[in-house]
Amino acid sequence: MQKILVARPIFPDVIERLKQYFNVDWNDGDVLEADEFTRRLADCDGALTAGDPVGAAVLAAAPRLRVVSNMAVGYNNFDMNAFNAANVLGTNTPDVLNESTADFGWALMMATARRIAESEHWLRAGHWQKWAYDGFLGTDVYGATLGIVGMGRIGQALARRARGFNMRVIYHNRSRVAPAIEAELNAQYVSKEALLQQADHVVLVLPYTKESHHTIGAAELALMKPTATLTNIARGGIVDDAALVDALRAKRIAAAGLDVYEGEPKLNPALLTVPNVVLTPHIASATESTRRAMANLAADNLIAALGVGPQAGHPPNPINPEVLGKARA
Ligand code: DGY
Repeated sequence: MQKILVARPIFPDVIERLKQYFNVDWNDGDVLEADEFTRRLADCDGALTAGDPVGAAVLAAAPRLRVVSNMAVGYNNFDMNAFNAANVLGTNTPDVLNESTADFGWALMMATARRIAESEHWLRAGHWQKWAYDGFLGTDVYGATLGIVGMGRIGQALARRARGFNMRVIYHNRSRVAPAIEAELNAQYVSKEALLQQADHVVLVLPYTKESHHTIGAAELALMKPTATLTNIARGGIVDDAALVDALRAKRIAAAGLDVYEGEPKLNPALLTVPNVVLTPHIASATESTRRAMANLAADNLIAALGVGPQAGHPPNPINPEVLGKARA
């Protein structure tokens, strides 16, 4: 029987599915340290990860490994050059999380614009003595301009939500989406600079790569309106968190909503001292049904890539399909 490592706690029934095909080493505890992760992969044919870094050294130490299935749409934890060089397949879990993640992005943008977390903390602290006409004034969402950076599947799901809020939608992406999609979403392609200057609410939904590192830094924050909000549901590192703290303190922008952070689960401690930021712990896809769908899709990918199960040899979400069928290098 082939052996796999499931590096993180996941739904026990998904583990039972995997056990029908594999000898399963399941880490049902804390995140594995890099050394232990590498050691436990050494005699595995496949692995199921969720953000665990996999690069050349890890692959070299696991000569039988043929597939690593990430339970996430983002796979910036994989060094794909190393995967390609070793003929190891990487897979991810796109699509099943689009709507839940867009719902969350919308909620975080709304909470940020309308100062929901900040006012709730104030109320809980016992400060509320009287209603005030100027208490926690925020920025309107209805009828405002939404700027989406990254018009992939989740960006498009956000744009659809904007219709109900009568918003103008502008977007920036590596490349323009098809005219039919622009028309359906009523979304206008603009430069990054124009988006930052015009949007009342900027939402980041682009993948993290070397090129997207610090897409939003001090210079970009300086272009935004002082009444604007910034929401990041993409990945830590896309925003320069230290520059954001400075901009929030100086009220160069009104507020920010962050679900992801540079170096998470650690975060820049200064963020905790800034009132005009809503902070959540990387939960944009966290609904019961979506996380179940992600776990099952990650299992489907692993089972199929290791040549067993109903889709044997045809994993649904290969990131580098060109290595399929090639001998491990
Ligand atoms: C994803 O799928 O990329 C989410 O951010 C969960 O990691």
